[in-house]
Amino acid sequence: MRIYIEENYETMSKKAALMVASQIILNPKSVLGLATGSTPVGMYHELVAMFKRGEVDFSEVITFNLDEYYGLPKEHESSYYRYMMDNFFSYVNVPEHHMHIPNGMGENVVKECLEYEEKIRIAGGIDLQILGIGSNGHIGFNEPADKLNVTTHLVRLTEKTINDNSRFFEREEDVPKEALSVGIATIMKAKKIVLLASGRNKAEAIREMTSGYVNTQVPASILQTHSEITLIVDKEAGALI
Ligand code: GLP
Repeated sequence: MRIYIEENYETMSKKAALMVASQIILNPKSVLGLATGSTPVGMYHELVAMFKRGEVDFSEVITFNLDEYYGLPKEHESSYYRYMMDNFFSYVNVPEHHMHIPNGMGENVVKECLEYEEKIRIAGGIDLQILGIGSNGHIGFNEPADKLNVTTHLVRLTEKTINDNSRFFEREEDVPKEALSVGIATIMKAKKIVLLASGRNKAEAIREMTSGYVNTQVPASILQTHSEITLIVDKEAGALI
């Protein structure tokens, strides 16, 4: 595992954006796995700035997002669809038919999940997967559990995650209790993975995911078995490693 401990959120975001841009410059048809949450916002804004300066072109890029709340219409202000539009897609030239976000309103969840996996497979798999991490060690919405789902699935969110994510909703009761998320193998099959973490509330999760042990109660710990994983953290998130 390659670990970069950055001075602050801004330098963490810049480094992550450079890694994404390098990937696209090396392979303009890259398939990107994208994450949401507050952590990658700075990276997306940096990529938008690079695009506006003509430094990177997304016209052949294909994207797959990790997850979406279940039962939340995509127009909802807290949906991950809206997040991606507001922070990234509206400002760059990823073609609309190249953007993929799980559909949290699909009538047949099982079909939705199978089709999502199939679309990733047909695209040739993920070249570069960007990840954040939950304070409980979740990746995507793969929550701590005795058993972890391998492929895209419907997940019941933990109280911790609902509480952490309530800051994006008006009231905690408004946070959906379920979500669609890619699985552990969907993530692990990515050729390269970059995980970002910022702030003191991620320090324990980062310590656990670099501990040398794989523990399903800290889903991110499986990333230690990936051969191309880069961790970019700020000083606070990296304080315990
Ligand atoms: C959500 C997302 C994850 C993300 C995590 C951390 O639960 N499903 O993909 O990594 O939150 O979010 P934040 O970056 O806001 O701390």
